[in-house]
Amino acid sequence: MEKPPKWYDAHLDEYRKVAYINSRAQYDEMYRQSLENPDAFWGPLAKEYLSWYRDWDRVLDYDFVEGRIEWFGGGKLNASYNCLDRHLEDKADKVAYYFEGDDPGMSRSVTYRELYEEVNKVAAWLVAQGIKKGDRVVIYLPMIIQLPVAMLACARIGAIHSVVFGGFSAESLASRIEDSHPRILITSDGGFRAGKVVSLKKNADEALKLSEWEVEKVLVYRHAGNGVEWDAGREVWWHEAIAQDGLPDYVEPEPMDAEDPLFILYTSGSTGKPKGVLHTTAGYLLYGAVSTRWVFDIKDDEVFWCTADIGWVTGHTYIVYGPLTCGLTTVLFEGVPSYPAYDRFWAVVEKYKVAKFYTAPTAIRAIAREGDELAHKHDTSCLKLLGTVGEPINPEAWRWYYHHIGRDWCPIMDTWWQTETGGHMITPLPAVAPIKPGSCSFPFFGVEPVVLDADTGRPVEFANQEGALFIKKPWPGMARTVYGDHERFKETYFSKMPGMYFTGDGAKQDEDGYWWIIGRIDDVINVSGHRLGTAEIESALVLHEDVAEAAVVGFPHALKGQGIYAFVSVKPNIATTEALKKDLVALVRKEIGPIATPDLIQWADALPKTRSGKIMRRLLSKIAAGAVTDPEAVEKGVLGDVSTITDPEVLRPLILGRLSLNS
Ligand code: WTA
Repeated sequence: MEKPPKWYDAHLDEYRKVAYINSRAQYDEMYRQSLENPDAFWGPLAKEYLSWYRDWDRVLDYDFVEGRIEWFGGGKLNASYNCLDRHLEDKADKVAYYFEGDDPGMSRSVTYRELYEEVNKVAAWLVAQGIKKGDRVVIYLPMIIQLPVAMLACARIGAIHSVVFGGFSAESLASRIEDSHPRILITSDGGFRAGKVVSLKKNADEALKLSEWEVEKVLVYRHAGNGVEWDAGREVWWHEAIAQDGLPDYVEPEPMDAEDPLFILYTSGSTGKPKGVLHTTAGYLLYGAVSTRWVFDIKDDEVFWCTADIGWVTGHTYIVYGPLTCGLTTVLFEGVPSYPAYDRFWAVVEKYKVAKFYTAPTAIRAIAREGDELAHKHDTSCLKLLGTVGEPINPEAWRWYYHHIGRDWCPIMDTWWQTETGGHMITPLPAVAPIKPGSCSFPFFGVEPVVLDADTGRPVEFANQEGALFIKKPWPGMARTVYGDHERFKETYFSKMPGMYFTGDGAKQDEDGYWWIIGRIDDVINVSGHRLGTAEIESALVLHEDVAEAAVVGFPHALKGQGIYAFVSVKPNIATTEALKKDLVALVRKEIGPIATPDLIQWADALPKTRSGKIMRRLLSKIAAGAVTDPEAVEKGVLGDVSTITDPEVLRPLILGRLSLNS
């Protein structure tokens, strides 16, 4: 078989003619300056990309030991103004969003002026409820235009939005409400997903019953037309709210400090409940806008489509704040790649003449599995650049995407970043250097990554040596704190190596200086590009009265990247039945949501633990991965050093149990 090329550069000559950053030398020079003199680098960009009420006093002030980061301190601006008002002069009639419903017959385009008008109406209603700067608003909506409208209405008046992914359960919504104490909840009757109605309002009702925190009002957008229960004292239909007499058409944007919070977004970590990652206004907006422009090299007349859900950070930055700050046209898609058939993405690309397309490896794998013909049913020659995010992309998926969608030409931007980083951190740029499949190429501006050896804590010395990925300096888009718990922020990100940001990922740099992300090295797993903490899933499992203990690990999964593997010990005299497995799966779905559904459950008489009682997930991961098949593995030393386990004998039945799950 012919060996695939080491890297791909078919697009380079063309991109060098048009790209914002069009050579390796230009990138190197800009990168050097961004690290050596962040003020001179980011200051002019902040002037070019954002509109300010007041200039900043200093570009950057920070203390990484304390986890204190301040960009553009003293400056004042408003995110909604930057995304809407200032575009009215020359882009009022430009399409901001092409909305494409789950049902292919449902679509509509929304101009910047229309978006602005709708945002003002909702902002006016919020003001009429007494909502003011700093108040929290939780948003639980499907992927419809009203979702960015609600976010921007909050941003306009200085309220902090917290969007909860529509696929999360009532319990997950309740715990986010309890943590952020919103005054308002914005939801819809339902959403559509692959032709079925998802009853969001019903989940919201349940969440409010579960939560000890009381919201004052619930604003409900009628979308799916499904019946809902109604509490007239608390609930208001969106269409009635904005038609209310006496509401002004215009709400003055609140001048926000550069470091005032813009939003909270909950994300999973190694321990405890998901944390409310808090992003502030100026740095986040700037970083999102600049990375949108440069990484996808988007021109003003091009259509961009990011297929993420706005419930995740990718949607926040690359569907809402990045593109709107730049005044671009993007697609907002409610549906799924498989409905009505697996060619839906390409039908939508053709329909709106999408030039730059950004999705997740898990979606590519699912589509590729359905065969090549579907990809060729549509004319996708409008595509000029592709992107991926969320997890490492495997070589087969990369090549399929490059060949069938990219016509052996479009560069693929494999963007590595995180909820906490606000925007791309390590990513190719289309005219800078050839691309290597599976590598995220080079750091974005201002990002100084370093790989530290897990044992010594010192930077690795050799090319291709793996270790823990840290970032040495602040960049504008980074999170500023964990909402209500700065200690947790410090502890999670700045304590592993004082003075550096810990990413939780493993990485290496190859002999050509390209960066490769290996995957999470903490107790976070990445299922279909979605982050889940193993501790969260374990907490859900042990809620069952028959369960004594549970340990959850990730294992390689052909479609999802990682699957969820649960080792469960039951209480004495409890039968380990298929029915109980079903109950446990249902329980996890109820507590967290369908994305956390365990793929495999293995009964365990006992779990391997250290003397201090910590479960040794490292060993369980090996067993779950099917990497250990010999029951004598412990005796033969295959599992490495097991001397810290109190009872190594517990491993043999686990290995045998894993084998029988396969058969
Ligand atoms: C993983 C999503 C490899 C990584 C924007 C990270 C990736 C976690 C990539 C963050 C990539 C994201 N290659 N791994 N291109 N992009 N990841 O917070 O493990 O939902 O730490 O943000 O996804 O997930 P999050």
